[in-house]
Amino acid sequence: MCGIVGYVGKRPAQDVLISGLRRLEYRGYDSAGIATLDSEDKPHLARSVGKIAELEKVLALKPHTGTLGIGHTRWATHGGVTVNNAHPHNVGDVFLVHNGIIENFRGLKAALKDVEFKSDTDTEVLAALINSKYDEKTSLKDAVAKALKEVRGTYGIVAFSPREPETLVVARLGSPLIIGLGEDETLIASDASALLGYTRNAIYLNDGELAVCNKEGAKVYNLDLKPIASTPEEIQGELEQIQKGGYDHFLLKEIMEQGTALKNTLSGRVDAKNGTMRLGGLNLTPKELKNLRHLVIVGCGTAYYAGLLASYYFEKLVPDLTTEVVIASEYRYRSFHLPENSAALIISQSGETADTLACLREIKRRGAKVLGIVNVIGSTIAREVDGGTYVYAGPEISVASTKAFTAQVTTMLIFAGMLAESHGGNMDTVRQLASELVALPENIEKTLKAYEKDMKKLAEKYAKYDNALYLGRDTAYPLALEGALKLKEVSYVHAEAYAAGELKHGPIALVDDRFFELVDVLDGPLFEKTLGGLQEVRARGGHTIVLTDSKKDIDCDDIVRIDTDAKLTVPLLLNTLQQLFAYYVAVARGNDVDQPRNLAKSVTVE
Ligand code: AGP
Repeated sequence: MCGIVGYVGKRPAQDVLISGLRRLEYRGYDSAGIATLDSEDKPHLARSVGKIAELEKVLALKPHTGTLGIGHTRWATHGGVTVNNAHPHNVGDVFLVHNGIIENFRGLKAALKDVEFKSDTDTEVLAALINSKYDEKTSLKDAVAKALKEVRGTYGIVAFSPREPETLVVARLGSPLIIGLGEDETLIASDASALLGYTRNAIYLNDGELAVCNKEGAKVYNLDLKPIASTPEEIQGELEQIQKGGYDHFLLKEIMEQGTALKNTLSGRVDAKNGTMRLGGLNLTPKELKNLRHLVIVGCGTAYYAGLLASYYFEKLVPDLTTEVVIASEYRYRSFHLPENSAALIISQSGETADTLACLREIKRRGAKVLGIVNVIGSTIAREVDGGTYVYAGPEISVASTKAFTAQVTTMLIFAGMLAESHGGNMDTVRQLASELVALPENIEKTLKAYEKDMKKLAEKYAKYDNALYLGRDTAYPLALEGALKLKEVSYVHAEAYAAGELKHGPIALVDDRFFELVDVLDGPLFEKTLGGLQEVRARGGHTIVLTDSKKDIDCDDIVRIDTDAKLTVPLLLNTLQQLFAYYVAVARGNDVDQPRNLAKSVTVE
């Protein structure tokens, strides 16, 4: 979603802001802007609609000088995509960038009678509110604190004023902000990737905190302006991880590097020899683990599908555990009941998804343990859970989630193995899972390498179709859902997914020769039944693609058979083929694969 960068220090602010905004491009945006102060403390503002390259064209005509400034990439919420609606906003002496939503902005706007608003945004109203408190006797810090007390909603903000030319004021409620502490320079960003290469030392601002930053560092306060002690933490990650490394797109890079990502996910957690699995950080006693009876898995989009896939394994491996998988945006408003000995698994790549975070808080409020399965280190969800673990997939830049899905499922499989052991599950199956998990990074690498060309060829053949139906049974059903989501996200092909057994209950009415069907066929007890659905589709003119681990005959138009001894982890192997397929369809259709239209990487508003 929107991105924020702020800088005060010794370097040209324009360069730092633009390079920071570029690092945040992956989050999705439709306009961008920066505001800086020059050496005579004169403010300069540049904004444009479209990509950062457009903003650079504006800046090329009139470059900004000076060593303090703020920058923003905006994803339109209030008001259309126009230059006036782009951030930073300026009212009086206040320059402001803002992520989040000010819910009561209409009421606040009506009360600010003397202001001539130039945009339709809630942010300009907040800038005006701060400015209305910013009289000659008041500091910017005090004005921001006063204004924020009148605000309802969420915000991550950075403000400056030419009257205090060495200061940035920062505040957060529900929208992340990180303060990077460098040598004679301080940077602010909504995402740690914008700070890499400048400093590894950072303060992760908490909700309800405000900070005053200058080039010497930052002082943190609460909204009553009582100082708060803050301990800087180390930013994880490497610069190469947020670069394309020779690939045409981040999406392809992230698909192809899944083997490496998984090695990190599995590192030190699975002992194939003894069939034991461990996850640190869960903060569950052996007794709590053993007594667990009800597991609710919460997520949105791909994270939800990862939970759905994992739920089949929890059921298979762990006797006496009921598993429920829920969509966060629904669950947060339902009158749900959590029986005794319940725990929640909160699944999130970004760790910032607003609906998922709201569920976490609601479940916690009701007294159940909340455990995070999160990728982004130091993210809000990771900080708010009672316990949990990182999936260590590394930065995922492309909007479509690929390696995070694989790492989330793998981490949940480890948890399922742990639970199986403490609940008296079948240890032969646990041992088989352990040895398959240890082999998984290599199996994924081999699969990607062996079938990439086949998937590309298939994608080019089917790229002209505007409709797709993904089908699967058992663990291949969540796989079908994830495959269809990936295809629609990056290729804009209308893709639906169904449990194959549902075909006759409605979706078969759709099938004609304008559709292609992608069927994930697992070599197992439901093999024949899945084929039944396939034949019904073929009989109605549908074009069929099969992805399978089976060596048996299958009547279809196109087939990719993976050669593997794996049994339990086959869905994760087949999924990599679906990812490649979606990627190459999107490329063939000429789409912006890494930043698909209308999508944002992390959905921090409801
Ligand atoms: C995945 O390809 C999507 N872009 C999206 O569904 C994503 O998985 C969802 O928004 C949840 O995000 P999170 O994992 O960061 O919470």
